[in-house]
Amino acid sequence: MDFCGYLDEVKDSKANLFIFTTMGYFEHKTIWITGASSGIGEALTYALNKKGAQVIISSRNQKSLEKVKNACVDTEKVYIAPLDLEDSEKLTEKAKTVLDKFKKIDVLINNGGISQRSLIKDTNMSVYRKLMEVNFFGTIALSKLVLPQMIREQSGHIVVISSLMGKFSSQLRSGYAAAKHALHGFFESLRLEHYDDNIKVLLVCPGFVKTNISLNSVTKDGSKHNEMDEAQDGGLSAEDCAAKIISAIQANKEEVYIGGREISALYMKRFFPKLLTRILKNRKVT
Ligand SMILES: NC(=O)c1ccc[n+]([C@@H]2O[C@H](COP(=O)([O-])OP(=O)(O)OC[C@H]3O[C@@H](n4cnc5c(N)ncnc54)[C@H](OP(=O)(O)O)[C@@H]3O)[C@@H](O)[C@H]2O)c1
Repeated sequence: MDFCGYLDEVKDSKANLFIFTTMGYFEHKTIWITGASSGIGEALTYALNKKGAQVIISSRNQKSLEKVKNACVDTEKVYIAPLDLEDSEKLTEKAKTVLDKFKKIDVLINNGGISQRSLIKDTNMSVYRKLMEVNFFGTIALSKLVLPQMIREQSGHIVVISSLMGKFSSQLRSGYAAAKHALHGFFESLRLEHYDDNIKVLLVCPGFVKTNISLNSVTKDGSKHNEMDEAQDGGLSAEDCAAKIISAIQANKEEVYIGGREISALYMKRFFPKLLTRILKNRKVT
């Protein structure tokens, strides 16, 4: 075997070891994933389905969800539940259908979301409302609908895909960062209020992950950005991000930061906040 072959084998054995060590933990769990039609949610769906979990997959686009289902190794264990997080009124009915069918949700992964690319001075208020509806109100509404069942069972895990933008902000992301910060406020309260009900809360803060997030971002008037940002393009793969999220769930972490060098900004914010301000203010603004 040549050296490259040896490296591939080591990589494969590491991946197999990861699947093996987390297999039992997820095998009989029912996991509801929002934003499962692409990116991080899609990668989580494949990985958790591979580990034997029953997955319930949600997003707006039913056709994309069907494609994801068909690409899973065990399609019998994939249930499609289309929903729009922006339409929190209809979420009650959607959640009832899912809860009537599955009775128990072990893990709810609140992953669905949209980002933003626009300056505060130019952004319509309707764009801020959309960012808050999808990223914050839809997410807390769905979690509140699943919560009573978790309280009854005295067991449950709520995972929230926040962002580094949930810990500090940057230009062009005012509404997105506000919504992600709000998620931390809400779910830190939920963790405390339901600690004794054995309901765990994990806040996930990714940096740059190579998905369609920048393409799907909303601009000042609500239209799509439709551009792949350079930072996103050079980011971590969705598969690696999903693997780290899965490890953090199993390790019962409260908060996890996933990404590359950009994670250092988090520590800069904590220990040298003015330095971070000076660095971020000089970033190119389009
Ligand atoms: N990629 C990154 O660098 C990064 C960094 C930090 C945090 N995050 C967070 O990671 C999560 C996943 O994003 P991603 O990077 O995987 O981006 P993505 O590929 O654009 O995926 C976003 C997902 O959210 C769903 N979604 C959007 N609007 C929705 C709505 N109104 N109702 C229901 N589902 C909706 C989309 O499906 P439909 O279009 O079918 O509805 C899609 O499945 C987001 O919460 C994002 O904020 C991403």
